[in-house]
Amino acid sequence: MSKPEDGDIVSLFVSIGLTKGKAEEAVKAPKSATILKDIINNSSSVKSGVDDKKATLLSALSIALSKSAGVNSSRRDYIVKAILDAKLVSVDQIFAAVKFFESHEITEDDTDFNKECGVGFTIAPERINTVVEDYITSNNISGWASLGPTINSLKSTQELRWASPLEVKNATDKVFLDKFGPKETAKPKGKVCSKSAPTQKLGSKSEFATVQDAPRKSVFEEGFLGALHRPGENPQMRPELRDAHLAVTGGQVWTRFPPEPNGFLHIGHSKAIFVNFGYAAHNNGRCYLRYDDTNPEKEEAKYFESILEMVRWLGFEPWKITYSSDYFQELYDLAVELIKRDKAYVCHCTQEEIKVDRGEKKGKPRPCAHRTRPVEESLAEFTNMRDGKYKPKEANLRMKQDLDDGNPQMWDLTAYRILDSPHHRTGDKWTIYPTYDFTHCLVDSMENISHSLCTTEFIASRQSYDWLCDAVEVYKPRQSEYGRLSLEGTIMSKRKILQMVDEGHVNGWDDPRLYTLISLRRRGVPPGAIISFVSTLGVTTAPSTIETARFEETVRQYLEGTARRLLMVMKPLKVTIENIPQDQVVFVEKPLHPKVPELGTSRIPFTRTIYIEADDFRTEDSKDYFRLAPGKTVGLFQAPHPITCTSFKADSSTGEIVELICKLENEGPAKKPKAYIQWVAEHAPSGSPVRVDETRIFNRLFKSDVVPKDFKADIASNSLEVVKTAMVEVGFWSLAKVAMAEARKEAEERTKKATKENETGTHGLDDDTPVATSAQLVGNECVRFQGLRVGYFALDKDARMAALTEGSTTSVREQGDFLVLNRVVSLKEDAGKS
Ligand SMILES: *[C@@H]1O[C@H](CO)[C@@H](O)[C@H](O)[C@H]1NC(C)=O
Ligand SMILES: *[C@@H]1O[C@H](CO)[C@@H](O)[C@H](O)[C@H]1NC(C)=O
Ligand SMILES: *[C@@H]1O[C@H](CO)[C@@H](O)[C@H](O)[C@H]1NC(C)=O
Ligand SMILES: *[C@@H]1O[C@H](CO)[C@@H](O)[C@H](O)[C@H]1NC(C)=O
Ligand SMILES: *[C@@H]1O[C@H](CO)[C@@H](O)[C@H](O)[C@H]1NC(C)=O
Ligand SMILES: *[C@@H]1O[C@H](CO)[C@@H](O)[C@H](O)[C@H]1NC(C)=O
Ligand SMILES: *[C@@H]1O[C@H](CO)[C@@H](O)[C@H](O)[C@H]1NC(C)=O
Repeated sequence: MSKPEDGDIVSLFVSIGLTKGKAEEAVKAPKSATILKDIINNSSSVKSGVDDKKATLLSALSIALSKSAGVNSSRRDYIVKAILDAKLVSVDQIFAAVKFFESHEITEDDTDFNKECGVGFTIAPERINTVVEDYITSNNISGWASLGPTINSLKSTQELRWASPLEVKNATDKVFLDKFGPKETAKPKGKVCSKSAPTQKLGSKSEFATVQDAPRKSVFEEGFLGALHRPGENPQMRPELRDAHLAVTGGQVWTRFPPEPNGFLHIGHSKAIFVNFGYAAHNNGRCYLRYDDTNPEKEEAKYFESILEMVRWLGFEPWKITYSSDYFQELYDLAVELIKRDKAYVCHCTQEEIKVDRGEKKGKPRPCAHRTRPVEESLAEFTNMRDGKYKPKEANLRMKQDLDDGNPQMWDLTAYRILDSPHHRTGDKWTIYPTYDFTHCLVDSMENISHSLCTTEFIASRQSYDWLCDAVEVYKPRQSEYGRLSLEGTIMSKRKILQMVDEGHVNGWDDPRLYTLISLRRRGVPPGAIISFVSTLGVTTAPSTIETARFEETVRQYLEGTARRLLMVMKPLKVTIENIPQDQVVFVEKPLHPKVPELGTSRIPFTRTIYIEADDFRTEDSKDYFRLAPGKTVGLFQAPHPITCTSFKADSSTGEIVELICKLENEGPAKKPKAYIQWVAEHAPSGSPVRVDETRIFNRLFKSDVVPKDFKADIASNSLEVVKTAMVEVGFWSLAKVAMAEARKEAEERTKKATKENETGTHGLDDDTPVATSAQLVGNECVRFQGLRVGYFALDKDARMAALTEGSTTSVREQGDFLVLNRVVSLKEDAGKS
């Protein structure tokens, strides 16, 4: 609404040197405009006009002051003088100066002020180099992967705070180049694999992925993510909003991952996590974990904890953990402001009436009777809503948008509704709660998000997002939408999964047959494989529905180079090697990975009694068959000699083969066998073999690729097979202990670093805020291996093994142990299908 006197004020502002556009923008914010007027009235130098740069800084000062309490006029004049004297030359410095005077007196000696606000700051490029070099040395920075965090940390040091960000970046790039060689040829640590670079992952022992390790860095530089705007390029109502925003963010990319805490995350969320955390990390920016907790009827404490755990498990650390409910008061104030601007009204229509008025899919919406009620009336009724004078549904606050617009998101969306539930954080302080449409954009704005990234379902919402930010004249982040990720043959809907759980079709939300992230974790899928999957698919605006086979192939490829290998048999068949004496034992030292010596070795016994896979024996030989049959010779992996089958014993009643009699080919010229098979030996003194109580094999849960609406009719009958006969070599124990110890160590280091660098672990404002701990990163699933010729396996959470408790010195099976393995994935695509 422009008032007649506005014109005079615009002229006044133009008279001191602001452009007409900037002057008009400035007038629109009454609070800072008044301050700017005072500044002009009170300073003859300003009154007589300054250059446009100084005028802009004065305007920024008025904005900074309008948001600050406690900076009185003499302090203000001090800052004005510093601007006129060209001591303060950037918006960033203006904000620092206002902040300084919130807690400091004016003193004769201006050393502190100058230091804090970077007055007259200069630094020689050589000095920057030295600071960077020292930092790298004292923080043990070891490669390009740390470039982003290093630049960030350097920029927040006292010495470099006011240095030109570009100079700091240039210097850091240069020092990295000197120390670590060109970035392109830098050897990735390779926890994340991709089709194009499958060998890079060889030998990785890390339990956790980090985005810096993604070889497909280009995913952030091309396609959807590559085309995103640069911070500050998103349009604003007024340039001051941009300036203030950039002053806070320093032009960094700030993103957020905003899940509703009303369910467990699934594979689709891993893309949102990757996109938001990954894009921020790639650009040396920051990413919030924000719980969007505006619906107290659906939230549960367990989801909060699990969400943080999954974000961290996937290799990311939130910069800060926040809640939409942190902003309930600010949101309420903005709702009042919106009503005052005649852009919202309290509506008493029923849901039915609203639906009818909104035209429900057939035609144009109609205004309801309350739309034109006076502002004062809506203000009073909104207070009544807040004060509990209405029951749920009796009144709603609705935005007064544009009923002529073709977009239903512009048809007077609900901003606030009454809910009878206490909120887990704000208790019964509020009975009215903001809707998603009202909350999301405003909290993005308050958190100074530079890129609000979401899936394409929200495209229509972008218009209401922009409308609301502009309606209350706040900084407006830019929403951009990418295509969501889903997998064929799975269900993602919370309601459906809940039904599957409740009716016992699966054993809980973390049943390894599901595609929730807790299920995938429990199953043993490495987090790096998930990141690799998402990153290899790339990010575009098209939704993608991927075959589960492709997902499994990525997991398989990832494990191929990273998982240690053990000898294992699922259905053991006893073999007696007649020419080995009863008590003889030979120990075989064998590598745990054929191509990666760093993965270590294991030492296993070879004795007269061994077990082989029942399927590796046939009574009838044929030409193209190379494994065991009567009279046939086969190699045993890593054993000293091949064996030849001389006879076999069958159960007299069932005819089932129960034992083979073989001969060790340890004399005469060595025959090179045509095939090798896996085996484990009986040797009680060394605890061999390790008998597995349960090995769980998961097949697809649904029959169809596109799970029909009636999903329960589509449940496959054989999705879980439990094998109780499996045996593993004794190398299992040292592998398991090493894997757990490595995971614990890495989890501790990561958590220590994260809690130091971020506010994830330290803010703890209220007791129920989840905190980053190393325990949440370590589980039985960290024990992972390839059963040679059998499949990839991981230890299930149901397993209980004394040897794996922290600090345990035992490394054999103890009384009460219960060993359960999950098959993560088969070795070949078809092997799992029956
Ligand atoms: C300007 O400042 C003087 C005091 O310095 C005050 O008396 C006067 O009312 C001010 N004028 C305006 C337009 O604010
Ligand atoms: C103008 O400045 C004088 C002294 O610098 C101060 O006393 C007065 O309060 C200021 N006026 C306004 C309107 O801020
Ligand atoms: C501003 O505040 C400081 C400290 O509170 C005080 O010493 C000074 O007199 C104040 N100046 C004005 C003009 O109110
Ligand atoms: C850097 O590494 C050395 C040797 O590995 C170690 O002693 C030192 O504590 C490390 N310093 C930091 C800051 O991590
Ligand atoms: C930073 O490096 C780029 C490219 O080498 C150069 O063009 C630019 O002038 C440098 N900027 C500063 C501030 O040193
Ligand atoms: C966001 O930026 C505004 C200035 O635009 C600042 O006042 C506010 O403190 C910032 N908020 C956060 C959470 O960074
Ligand atoms: C948060 O912690 C992680 C892990 O230590 C680190 O990589 C990241 O740079 C930190 N984020 C910020 C903004 O410091």
